[in-house]
Amino acid sequence: MSCPVGVDVALAARLLREGKLVSFATETVYGLGANALDVNAVARVFAVKNRPHFDPLIVHIADRSWLPRLVASWPEAAERLAARFWPGPLTLVLPKTELVPDLVTSGLPSVAVRMPAHPLALELLRLADVPVAAPSANLFGQLSPTCAEHVAERLGDQIDYLLDGGPCSVGVESTVLLLESDRAVLLRPGGVPLEEIESVISPVALPSRETTSDQAAALSPGMLPQHYAPRTPLVIVEDLSRVTAPARCGLLILQPHPAASRFAAVEVLSANGDLTAAAANFFAALRRLDAAHVEQIVTMPFPNHGLGRALNDRLTRAAH
Ligand code: TXA
Ligand code: MG
Repeated sequence: MSCPVGVDVALAARLLREGKLVSFATETVYGLGANALDVNAVARVFAVKNRPHFDPLIVHIADRSWLPRLVASWPEAAERLAARFWPGPLTLVLPKTELVPDLVTSGLPSVAVRMPAHPLALELLRLADVPVAAPSANLFGQLSPTCAEHVAERLGDQIDYLLDGGPCSVGVESTVLLLESDRAVLLRPGGVPLEEIESVISPVALPSRETTSDQAAALSPGMLPQHYAPRTPLVIVEDLSRVTAPARCGLLILQPHPAASRFAAVEVLSANGDLTAAAANFFAALRRLDAAHVEQIVTMPFPNHGLGRALNDRLTRAAH
């Protein structure tokens, strides 16, 4: 049996208040939401996703009124970033208050907070009037959903309502930034490019470059090296002419390429190589290739700037 799907925000908000699970559209990907202050509801989110309890959830808010109850400090950098990027695809990790359940933060002393930009998500959060813990609405380790159908396919029978806000405009998850008293650390590249963050606060530390993977894992326990994976093996190559059996492979590529016609299935993410358009198409394209019955999905690295950084991060985690 599949859950009701629609745009009844009032019903969705009431269900959240009652401790039910509601999947909802955001501008990045669909979230699987529960009242963040209701530990039973949050526990169900972990169970439904099959998500390990060491991987903390992002808490979503519609306006700043909840902030003082959720975060124990609000540094100047947070103020400047929120003024510029909220509502939008930026998640800030800050010291948490007592009110935030340890289950939400996996026992960490910090909480991740985000104000999404999708109008339906904002209305839902406003009407629910509770902070909403929401991971992406996919089974743990699988591709993130960027339209309601993706959610219905995998989770439809385990949630109470699916708030359909159409296809997600950004298409990759939010940028996750840890703010400590003396530094900012990029925990996950995402919808707000690093360059834009550095135009507001600088410098931003990149754990991948500056710390060991153990230290990076301690900062953001959810950033497992393998994640966002299609079922079909995915390889990243520098040179398409060296792929040995393209007729048995799918190709995921930023823009049209002369070698593409040799592949069994092709997904071109943008006609003119635009990284923002590519991000919006990325997960849906990967899903289609995963369903195309090919032996392997072949892809090339994206230019490592703008949203290309987030796309390369997702590709690296999807490769296996
Ligand atoms: O765009 C998004 O962020 C979407 C939509 C639904 O808002 N949500 C999302 O959630 O991508 P999820 O659970 O798939 O990813 C949350 C990431 C994980 O990598 C997790 O480890 C990190 O945020 N995170 C959450 N709380 C944290 C904390 N206190 N400290 C460090 N990392 C944290
Ligand atoms: Mg996720």
